[in-house]
Amino acid sequence: MNVAATKLFEVVPLSKHIGAEIRGLDLSRPVDEATRAAVYQAWLDHTVLIFRDQKLTQEDHLRATSIFGEHAGIRRPPKYFPAGFHRVLPGIMFISNIRENGEPIGALPDGEMMFHHDMIHHEIPDKATLLYSVEIPSHGGNTLFASGYSAYETMEPELRAKLEGKIAKHHYNYGSTIKGDNRGTEAFAACNHPVFRTHEETGRKTVYVNRLMSTGIEGMDDSEAIPLLEKVFDHAEKMEFVYSHQWRVGDLVIWDNRCSTHAREDFPADQRRLMLRTTVKAGVRPYL
Ligand code: OGA
Ligand code: MN
Repeated sequence: MNVAATKLFEVVPLSKHIGAEIRGLDLSRPVDEATRAAVYQAWLDHTVLIFRDQKLTQEDHLRATSIFGEHAGIRRPPKYFPAGFHRVLPGIMFISNIRENGEPIGALPDGEMMFHHDMIHHEIPDKATLLYSVEIPSHGGNTLFASGYSAYETMEPELRAKLEGKIAKHHYNYGSTIKGDNRGTEAFAACNHPVFRTHEETGRKTVYVNRLMSTGIEGMDDSEAIPLLEKVFDHAEKMEFVYSHQWRVGDLVIWDNRCSTHAREDFPADQRRLMLRTTVKAGVRPYL
């Protein structure tokens, strides 16, 4: 007897190159293995997934994170909890401008942020980041996602040839949002990775340098390397490769840090913004 295929959920692309909305899935409940595998495949296909109108507890958020792999440990526990939060589960971080006793309760509190890959300055960067919006400003604060695949595939051949096979240097002071802003903590991490990497699951090549954290090229003088990198950034950040996410409360967004960069637009400093963030471990060091 034939069993009718169940339609699990809908995948609605949000731009030509990157991003899709998943409709018809309530992440406050566990998903079965077939659904998990289908969501994972949709994520590999679209790089960024948006789940709207979710009502998630922190436990739900962690369970949704596990759809994509093993969640990475907490990096910065909040010092203060806003009303309604008496505790934060291990693995969850706040991204917020809310201040208590004059200090932000979360990381990356204010304003605009340059395009970047999360954790590129580590040896094995986390493969994914999930952000869940709890409070958002009345306007501004969009998060922009740019496809590293498209940037690679459409790059001027001459520029691409100059950087093919090369290794880039990355440096990041935690909390910095614009290169050279001196806003980050003194603590920093640095690491070198291929300028163009192969995504270990899709097998596709992608640009793997970014304006916020990439500082040079191994074995190349800065006088040559910096202008080349600037050209790559200008190309990779073209709006045609970007999906701009306008937040609503209850959005869960997951992005693939291996093959995309993201940036944040400015927003009013006097309006609250609160996101809960988790990340997913990767299994391999980026390779050529
Ligand atoms: C992040 C990040 C962007 C935003 O959490 O890694 O870049 O819109 N956040 O807050
Ligand atoms: Mn980020």
